Amino acid sequence: MKILVVLGSPRKGESYWGATRLEKQLKTHPNVDVEYLWLRDLNLKDCLGCHACIFNGESHCPLKDDTPLLQQKMLEADGVIFTSPVYALQISALLKKPFDHFAYLWHRPRFFGKYAMALASGGGQFKETLDYIKLNVTNWGFTFVAGIGIAHHEALQPGRQAKQELDLQKTAEKFYAAVKSQKHPSPGLYELIRFRVWRINAKYLKESNPTDNAYWNEKGWFDAAYYVERPISFLKIIAADVMERVIHRFMQSVYQGY
Ligand SMILES: Cc1cc2nc3c(=O)[nH]c(=O)nc-3n(C[C@H](O)[C@H](O)[C@H](O)COP(=O)(O)O)c2cc1C
Repeated sequence: MKILVVLGSPRKGESYWGATRLEKQLKTHPNVDVEYLWLRDLNLKDCLGCHACIFNGESHCPLKDDTPLLQQKMLEADGVIFTSPVYALQISALLKKPFDHFAYLWHRPRFFGKYAMALASGGGQFKETLDYIKLNVTNWGFTFVAGIGIAHHEALQPGRQAKQELDLQKTAEKFYAAVKSQKHPSPGLYELIRFRVWRINAKYLKESNPTDNAYWNEKGWFDAAYYVERPISFLKIIAADVMERVIHRFMQSVYQGY
């Protein structure tokens, strides 16, 4: 089992410490390989906002940096642990950089079958950071397993320290069990509608975005119920059909090209 830890802090501090606790627990199982990837050591440039990745394909990004390397490492892993300190209630700028670069993955997701979890470290406000990581990675195709927020370990009372250690162990176990099971939940109505919205874009904006259209065509998603084969109830498919029509009409009424 290959686990990649993406480190979004500029320093070897609390989030790194949390990651090492997860690693320790994961390695209680045989054949678990954990690799750390420090974003601070990569060459990651600020997105220029040219949209070349979205409209022409990610290889057309004018910034020649390590984003493709990061994506490759994520593709090679069975599970990815995204870590970040909480800065002003959000992920660090270091982690935001690749998240901006990966905006094309919302259009052309490719991490189906892979698992992700998030670890945020901070003074106690974790929700926005964990939710934001979850929102992004699920839109890239990952199955999100768990998010954990950790406080400064040394500053905690001994009882709280023990609880934090236990929470980290339990979260690592949950992540390990998910990756080992290779099971993925069926999409809910929200995920089905999200799929349909991206499909409307890929289908009707073919002229302005031939890259999305070609990708969706190649994947067979124009005729599929979802990105991947999963059991979906008939009722949910009907509901998604209706919503797709409503959303398409709405898009037509607001924007050109639909
Ligand atoms: C610029 C800055 C902004 C911060 N903003 C928050 C915040 O909004 N909420 C919070 O809980 N902690 C905040 N913190 C505290 C850090 O999240 C905390 O120190 C974290 O454990 C650092 O993780 P690291 O040691 O892995 O870098 C902030 C710290 C810095 C340096």
